[in-house]
Amino acid sequence: MSVLIKNGTILTAEEEFEGDIFIKGEKIEALGKKLPFKADEVIDAKGKYILPGGVDQHVHFSFTYKGSKVRGFETSNAAAVGGTTTLIEFVNQEQGKGLVESIDEYRKKDADGIAMVDYSFHSVMTDPRDEVIDEIPKLAEAGYPTMKLFMAYKGMFFHADDDAVLKALIKGKEAGITVMVHAENAHMIDVLAKKLVAEGKTDPYYHAVSRPVIAEAEATRRAIYLAELAGAPLYVVHVTCKEALEEIKNAYSKGQRIFGETCSHYLVLDTEDLARPGFEGAKYVCSPALRTEEHRKALWEAVERKWLNAISSDHCGFDYAEQKHMGYGEGKSFADIPNGAPGLQNRLNVLWTYGVCEGKLTKARLVDLFATAPAKINGLGTKGQLAPGFDADVVIFDPEYKGTISVQNNLEGVDYCPFEGFEQKGRAETVFLRGMKIVSEGNYQGKKGQGRFIAGRPFGTAYTEGK
Ligand code: URP
Ligand code: ZN
Ligand code: ZN
Repeated sequence: MSVLIKNGTILTAEEEFEGDIFIKGEKIEALGKKLPFKADEVIDAKGKYILPGGVDQHVHFSFTYKGSKVRGFETSNAAAVGGTTTLIEFVNQEQGKGLVESIDEYRKKDADGIAMVDYSFHSVMTDPRDEVIDEIPKLAEAGYPTMKLFMAYKGMFFHADDDAVLKALIKGKEAGITVMVHAENAHMIDVLAKKLVAEGKTDPYYHAVSRPVIAEAEATRRAIYLAELAGAPLYVVHVTCKEALEEIKNAYSKGQRIFGETCSHYLVLDTEDLARPGFEGAKYVCSPALRTEEHRKALWEAVERKWLNAISSDHCGFDYAEQKHMGYGEGKSFADIPNGAPGLQNRLNVLWTYGVCEGKLTKARLVDLFATAPAKINGLGTKGQLAPGFDADVVIFDPEYKGTISVQNNLEGVDYCPFEGFEQKGRAETVFLRGMKIVSEGNYQGKKGQGRFIAGRPFGTAYTEGK
């Protein structure tokens, strides 16, 4: 099967130009002006943008909070309609099992044969025994070259203390494993949360009060010191505030290899969303907590100026009616509300409408943050770029489309959307996954199991590239 997409405006992380793309089988074969190829299907993309399929490096399809689990890979078609063709899922090490074994088992049971876009995995170390630390380099051989550690969430089995973070950094660098941290001071949060609850301050809004900026800034700085001690690079996930950004910028300017991402919801949602009437605020409980305007401004500047190098969704599909209500009623509080919000489908919509259309993001930066950089960070060599030899993961984007973001047209399998009612400019009209058309006229038309596991290679951007 071959496809010729003609007369579009091709967007890459470096430039934008009028041209054609020729897809043969699963790969991009050529890009250029007036390509002379004959193809099985010819698409006229005049007036449309063509960009690489997105890579969402921060997705939770197995996250469990106080026994309650998110929607899984059966909802990965939501990524496709949002222009994302590869996602990376965090897999907790199961108690008593190895790191590779935990991912292999999860992958066979919950991803292979189900996923509707391509996928890869980050390991989450939960049990840092000596033999587990020794196993870390094996992740690289297995195609899982990234590992997240949760410095937050005191008392949860996946919480990691400094000992675990330092050991992971030291061992990980032997094999080019990129260590990622959820940087929040678990003890500060625990003390504040218990005090608030004791004072009867149990509403969702107090989630933000219990997780102040200082808790994120302190843990970010501490993780940076641990990385310095280990002589290892570090990747800070979901950066949300000015103070944490300052830590990253300072460290990088002193020559340390410290990188980071933010997420779409931190760019457009606000602490005040947690104070919505009734129990609505629970929809916005995620960690770190949503911040205020001054932090959003700093984040937009940071992504445009390359101080952060990816924007992910941190997609976490807990529903409102039941799961978020775990924190509702007598004896319950914000601390019982599962952390996380859905966002897989709307990453590009948010970045285009509120970034590009509002002049906060150039189109080239959007492509880099949405697709190219996350592919490189995670060693996904054939993903995230429109170039010959790369996978034909291609989005034809209609900038004229106008709509409203709503749960009504959402495939995430969750009963709410945190961006409900937001204006949407433009949409992923047609999406190809390795040459297969899986979205047409904005509608998903692929099939279950068409996604493929993509092995990551070690020594990603954090080891090899500048910002
Ligand atoms: O609130 C969030 N972000 N939930 C997902 C787990 C995590 O911390 O990334
Ligand atoms: Zn996290
Ligand atoms: Zn997350």
